[in-house]
Amino acid sequence: MKEDNNNDFSLNLPEKTELGALGNIVKKLFTLKNPDSMIKQAEEGGLRKTLNAFDLIILGVGAIIGSGIFTVVGIAAAGNATTAGAGSGLVISVILASVACIFSALCYSEFASMIPVAGSAYIYTYATMGEFMAWSIGWILILEYIVAYIAVVTAWSGYFMHFLKGFSNYLPAFITNPPVYLIHDYTTATSELSSKGIDASSVIPNIFGIPFCMDLPAILITILIIAILIKGIKESTKMAGFLVIVKLGVIALFVVTGLFYVKPENWVANWTVPFIPTGISGIFMGAFTMFFAYIGFDAIATAAEETKNPQKNLPIGIVGSLLVCTVVYLLVALVFTGVAPLGDININAPVASAMSLTGHDKIAGLISLGALAGITSVLLVMLLAGTRILYAMSRDGFLPKILQTIHPKFKTPHILTVFVGIICIIGTLFLDLTEAAKLCNYGTLTSFVIVCLAVVILRKIDPERKRPFKVPFSPVTPLMGVICCGGLMIYSMLSSKSSTMLFIVWLIMGILFYFSYGYKNKRKLEDSEESVV
Ligand code: ALA
Repeated sequence: MKEDNNNDFSLNLPEKTELGALGNIVKKLFTLKNPDSMIKQAEEGGLRKTLNAFDLIILGVGAIIGSGIFTVVGIAAAGNATTAGAGSGLVISVILASVACIFSALCYSEFASMIPVAGSAYIYTYATMGEFMAWSIGWILILEYIVAYIAVVTAWSGYFMHFLKGFSNYLPAFITNPPVYLIHDYTTATSELSSKGIDASSVIPNIFGIPFCMDLPAILITILIIAILIKGIKESTKMAGFLVIVKLGVIALFVVTGLFYVKPENWVANWTVPFIPTGISGIFMGAFTMFFAYIGFDAIATAAEETKNPQKNLPIGIVGSLLVCTVVYLLVALVFTGVAPLGDININAPVASAMSLTGHDKIAGLISLGALAGITSVLLVMLLAGTRILYAMSRDGFLPKILQTIHPKFKTPHILTVFVGIICIIGTLFLDLTEAAKLCNYGTLTSFVIVCLAVVILRKIDPERKRPFKVPFSPVTPLMGVICCGGLMIYSMLSSKSSTMLFIVWLIMGILFYFSYGYKNKRKLEDSEESVV
C-alpha cells in the first residue's frame, strides 16, 4: 500500500500513466482513506465536543428502546398472517438478537475508539475497503436511519392518536377523531378503511387526480425534532435524557407490577419443546423481528466527533447501552409472555394491553404515555445519526458542499438537518411501518456485516495502529458477527420479496448517483486540494 499526496492510500496498483482511463477509475474505486487524515479533518470540522460516557449511554438507550419494545414485540411473539411468532420463546429470540448485536457492538467499539469521526460504518469501510464500498455503505446507512425514522414516526403517530382519544370528552372531535387521510399514509389509510368495509375512494380526497393522504402528527413532530436538533446536540441529548428516564420508568412499572400476575402456565401453554412452542422457525422470525428493537446502538458512533475522550467513552457508550437494553428486553419478554395468553393481547399496543389484562388500566395508560416518550427519543437520535452520516459523506466530496454548512451560533449542520427532515416527511407519505421496519433491518444488518469484516481487514493491513479498545478473540468474534447478522439477513430476505426488491432498487440508485455525481465531485475536490498543496 502507498500513500497519496492527500494522505489517502491506494492499493499497490501501477502508476496513473501505466493504467489507462479505466484502470485509473478502478484504482480510485479501491482507494483507501487514511484514518489519520480522517481524524485531522474531523478536528478541523468545528463540531462541539460535549458528550461524556453517560450522555452516550443515554443517547444509545434513547435510540434503541422505542417502537420495537412497545409495538413490534407483539408481532415477534404472536406472529402475523404469514409468519408464526416465537410465543413464549420470545425470550430466546431476544437473546439471539442481542447476541447478533453484541459481536457487532464490539467491532463498532474498536473502530469508534480508534477513528473517532462522524460517519461510523461509512468511514470504517473507507479505511479498509476503499471509496466505492464506503459510498455504498454510506448510502445503505442513509436508508437505515431515514427509513428507521419513518417506521418509528409512524408508530409515534399511532400512539399519539391513541393518547388523544383518551381526552375525547375534553377536546373537539376534529382533534381526537380526525379523518383517516390526515393521520396515515395512503396504504395504511386504505387498509384501515377496507377493514371497516368502507370504499377508500369515497373518503380519501383527490388533488389533481392523486389521492391525498398525509400523516399530520408525524409531520408536526418531525418539524419539532428538526428544531431541537438544530438547537444543539447537547440540548438534544438533554431532551433524550428526560425521555429515557420516562420510558425506563414506565417499563420498570410494567415489569414490577406484571411480575405479580405472571402465571407459569402462560409460559408453558402448548409447549411441544420447552421454550420453543412454534419451532425453530418461530424463534428465528422472532429474533429477526426483535432485531429492529436493537437498532440504534450503532448511532452512537455517529456522534464520535462530538464526544469528549472518545477513545474511552465510545466503547462504554456502545456496549453499555446495548447491555442495558438487553436486560430491559429480557425482563419485558418474560413478563409480557407470562401475564396473559398471547391470544388475548391487542397486538397494536401489546405492552399496554398486557397490563390492562391484569386489571391495572391506569398503569396501562401510563405505559402508553411512556411509549410516546420512548419513541420520541428514538426519533431524535435516528434523525441525528442520518444527518451525521451525510455530513461525513459531503465532507469527503461525494455530496454537495452546502450540506456541511454549520450554523454560526448553534454549531450544528442546520441545512443538512432540514434537508434530511424534509426527506423523512416525504417518506411518511409513501412508506408504511412494516415495510419501513424490514428495509431498515436490511440496511442495518448489511452495515453490521461490513463493520465486522472491516475489523479483520484493518488488523491485517494496519496492525501497528493504536487501538484503545480491541475486540477480544479476533478474528473469531468479528466472524461470528458476520455469520449471525448475515444469516439473519439471508433468512429474512428469502421470506420477504417486496422489501428485498426495494432494497435492491435503493442500491442501484446509489450506484447510479455515485457514478453520475459522487465520483466526479470527489475528483474535483482532490484536484482543488492538489492545487492548494
Ligand atoms: N430500536 C428502535 C426502536 O425500537 C428503532 O424503535
